[in-house]
Amino acid sequence: MRNLDQYNITQAVIARLAQTPDPRLKQVLTSLVQHLHAFAREVKLTEAEWAYGIDFLTRVGHTCDDQRQEFILLSDTLGLSMLTVALNNDKPKGCTEATVFGPFHVEGAPQFEHGADVANGAPGQPCTVRGSVRALDGTPVAGAVIDVWQADAEGKYDVQRDDLVHAQGRGVLRSGADGRFHFQSVVAEPYPIPDDGPVGEMLRATKRHPWRPAHLHFRIQAPGYQTLVTHVFRDGDPYLDSDAVFGVRESLVANWVQQPDGSYSLDFDFVLNPASAQAPPLTRSTEASPTA
Ligand code: BEZ
Ligand code: FE
Repeated sequence: MRNLDQYNITQAVIARLAQTPDPRLKQVLTSLVQHLHAFAREVKLTEAEWAYGIDFLTRVGHTCDDQRQEFILLSDTLGLSMLTVALNNDKPKGCTEATVFGPFHVEGAPQFEHGADVANGAPGQPCTVRGSVRALDGTPVAGAVIDVWQADAEGKYDVQRDDLVHAQGRGVLRSGADGRFHFQSVVAEPYPIPDDGPVGEMLRATKRHPWRPAHLHFRIQAPGYQTLVTHVFRDGDPYLDSDAVFGVRESLVANWVQQPDGSYSLDFDFVLNPASAQAPPLTRSTEASPTA
């Protein structure tokens, strides 16, 4: 196999994958090579651009540590994370839509009883959150494990504050026998994704902003149902139509209603999909206390 040129090198690389024993690995790598080569041909990639790309990805890697995952931010800002969510969460009509997991979830957050204040000192305007977890036919789902996490009034997650020694704006609750739950917190505010690394450089080079519209994160797990990872977005937020990570779904936008005493309330009902085609549980191994 000599004298490979721009016309036959793709087939030569694909042929080299022929003995891959795992059929899925073979399929994914073959397609990756085809698309990578097609991309290089389409834009007629220069050697300087190839070198820049290698340097960019190297810097993305060097920006990653236990606290920060720049590759996931890159995937998020290129829409690949949301595309993967969409491809794998094609649920029946009526089920709550899924969206990106994001990097700020912490496994093993404090457990709370209904009515407790999960803000735990986080700055912000008080807010009561009430909701229910149900099946598609309306049956309440009792004992669902509800993880909630959010940014505070300054647009920060607790894990982004070096001085904090306890969790703020996150917790785990269980739905009651009627499928319902409620807790106190603070109103979520919009925030910029971390943009002090190579991903921020890409956003600036393309005149994009790093902001996410205000949202509350939920992960809801119950036996017999597909785990739901989603957000509830705040209606009226200026970034709903330009989310830096493309995560907004119209069905997930809700009204934070101001009460006569100045506090807010949010009501949102979640509908779970039966677990017939359950994907593996969604957790990250590098989940100590990520900040990006
Ligand atoms: C988040 O919503 O927490 C998030 C999602 C993607 C990138 C950065 C943050
Ligand atoms: Fe978030």
